[in-house]
Parts: sequence; structure tokens; C-alpha cells
Amino acid sequence: MTTSPDTPAVATPARDESALLAPTYPLPRLEIARGQGARVWDTSGRAYLDMVSGIAVNAFGHAPAGLAAAVADQMSRLGQSSNLFSHAPGTALARELLEATDYDRVFFCNSGTEGIEAALKFARARARSRGASGRGVLAFEGGFHGRTAFAVSATHNPHYREPFGPLVPGVRFAPFNDVSALDRLLDGGVCAVIVEPVQGENGAVPAQRDFLLALRARTAAIGAALVLDEVQTGMGRTGRLLAQEHFGLRADYTVISKALGGGLPIGAVLMTEEAASHLAPGMHGCTFGGNPVSAAAARWVLAQVREPALLERVRRAGRRLGDGLAAIAEKHASVREARGLGLLRAIELAAEAPFDAPALVAAARAHGLLLVRGGERAVRVLPPLDVTDDELDEAVAKLDTALSFLGHADPGAVAPADQGGAPR
Ligand SMILES: Cc1ncc(COP(=O)(O)O)c(C=O)c1O
Repeated sequence: MTTSPDTPAVATPARDESALLAPTYPLPRLEIARGQGARVWDTSGRAYLDMVSGIAVNAFGHAPAGLAAAVADQMSRLGQSSNLFSHAPGTALARELLEATDYDRVFFCNSGTEGIEAALKFARARARSRGASGRGVLAFEGGFHGRTAFAVSATHNPHYREPFGPLVPGVRFAPFNDVSALDRLLDGGVCAVIVEPVQGENGAVPAQRDFLLALRARTAAIGAALVLDEVQTGMGRTGRLLAQEHFGLRADYTVISKALGGGLPIGAVLMTEEAASHLAPGMHGCTFGGNPVSAAAARWVLAQVREPALLERVRRAGRRLGDGLAAIAEKHASVREARGLGLLRAIELAAEAPFDAPALVAAARAHGLLLVRGGERAVRVLPPLDVTDDELDEAVAKLDTALSFLGHADPGAVAPADQGGAPR
């Protein structure tokens, strides 16, 4: 059967998924039929400005021609070869990533949580190999690191953790951005500290420079590893290839994923030579990790993101979006603050706002704008990295309209054009 982007092969109505999928998401969801750049279309042909970007994945929007060509070309040669064999795209990607980030070695996997899982395992193995006694992991309130066992154990929100106990033992939590609390919680019992430079899922909350530098200094002093979770912040999203560059920071392990494949699943743990020296063949592995097709996609993305003009453009666009969101916070009493770094931004609703974050996501969608929640009361704006000024201005204007609509609406009102389906 032949298909075009306009005629999806599967024309099943969105509501059908409710009876088919495990209920881990609010179902049914809006069904997206196709996308181009920063726009997507649903199955009825309605267009939306997409400021979700596959949750910070589609760095160059939907269906970039260069990425499609790189993936198709690689798939026509070699799609998968397993971790038993090497392949040119994987080796080239490793070389290019390490050169661009100044790390020494890399482990490839498929997703953010797999990268976190690997980094935390590697940190414990490092402590063992160095003869250190502590195996504890220090993580932070508001932090999100993924859904697999170790990653969810280090994720603060009890809603994600508690159904799955007993969890991986030895994880303690400290307040984010609180240097003084480290005296109490960061001691010889800890072998790894894991932190996001900007807490993404918590609603784009940036770490303070002093806090990150204190973590680096104190982990080095006690021989613990610093694990930077750059799954959401990495690959240019904050205006630097890695967000740690804003702080002059280098971790023992840095995890990236999301935008790395531009839409294909891939994750990577970047590490120093010292960190890698505690690993040995067979200790860890991944069947698909960095497979030829995902590696070809990531090489294409990395080549675009490494362009200084692109990163400069992200910083400028980030300031424009930040200014637009700050003006919204100024105008609407329902918005407590606008915050973030680069193109990882959010607004947080005031405690007294007469509506909640899901209602704002729904109202924005009814006005043709896709957004995603972050934390309890925040809504994130995550444009593609090559977003235009006009698209940013349109997003801010639509968000303004949605907030005005909610501010004036009767409680429980549904925006006129709402398509139904529960927003995330
Ligand atoms: C900072 C951070 N770490 C880890 C993850 C988990 O990544 P994945 O969903 O690819 O497993 C996410 C996902 O949102 C994330 O934002």
C-alpha cells in the first residue's frame, strides 16, 4: 500500500486507543496525523502550532528533510547489528560527540531513563572499584530522571515512585538550589550526586550557579561522582550544546537523549576516562543502543546543533520567548512567574489562579497551540531549536488569548474549538 503524508495508513479514530492501550496515559489523546516544522495537523485537518516538540525531542521540528534522508539512507544499508559488532555511524557519532563535548568515552542506549540507569550503575561500580564504602545516591526535590527502577528511585515525585516499591535502596533527597543542606546530606555515604542543570519536568526551574559549583567541588572532595542529567537540557536546548557549559562545569557522567536523535530513540552517557576506567566488558550493555539508524540520525542532528550560528540563534530566540512570557506574567494575575533558560521555558500559575495547568493546556490547544505541563502548576513552552520569531510571537499571542479566555470564563467552561481528549 502506498501512502502520502496527507493520507495516513492508519485512519483509526483516536478514541479507539482507549480500549487498546494500557491506561498509563489519560486516554484518548489528540491524534496527530502529520507534522511539518513547528506545525502539526490532527486527523480532521486542524493545524496546531507545536510548542511541545515531542517533549523537547524534535530539535528541528517535524519531518526535516535532511534527517529523513540520513535515516532512509542508513536503513537501506544497515539497520541493526547489535552490540556484538561495530559500525561506521556509531563510531563516527562517538568521535563527533566526544570532540564536541570534551568528554572521553561514551555508552549508547535508547532513551533518557536507560542513560540514567546506566550512569547510576556505573557510579556505584566506580565506588566499588575504588574501594569506597558509600553506595548512596543524592538526588534533589523536584528532580525527574525517568521511569526505570534506579531512575524512578532517584525521581522525587512520590506519585511516580510509590506504586513501585520496594525501590532501589540508598537514594536520599535534598532541597534543590540549597547549598547549606549539602552539609547535612552529602557525606561519605554518597557515591553519586545526580542533578539537572534545569529541572525540566518540574517546570523549567534553573539550577543556580553556586549550587552546581558546590556540587562539583564537594563530590570531587569526597570522591563521589557527579552525574548531570542533560536528557532534556542537552543538544542545544538552552543555547549551548550542553547546559553545563553555561556554568563552566564538567561532570563525571553526563546523560543526554531526547533531541540527540531528533525523533529517533537514542541516549548516551558521556564520561571521563577516569569514570570509564572502572567498567569492563559484560558489565552493562544494550541490544539496540546507538544502532546504525539512530546513530545516523544523531550525526545529522549534532552537525546542525554544532553550528555556532544555530546556538546563537537559540540564545536569541530564548531571550525573545523569555521576554514574551515575562510580559504575560506581568499582564495576567493568574501567572506567578515566567522562567527557564534558552528554549526550555515555562510559566507557573499563581496559587490563587481560578484554573489549573491541565485547563491551560486544554485552552491553549483549543486556540491552536500545543503546550505541555511541567510540575504541579507550570506549563512548558518547548519550541524546535530552529523556531522563527514569527512562530514564537504567535505562540505567545495564543497563550495570552488562552489565559484571557480562562480568566473570563465561567469555572468549568470549555473553549469553543476544543477537540476533546485529556491533555497530559
Ligand atoms: C531530565 C530527564 N531525565 C530523564 C528523562 C527520562 O527520559 P525518557 O523518557 O527518554 O526515558 C526525562 C524525560 O522527560 C527527563 O526530562
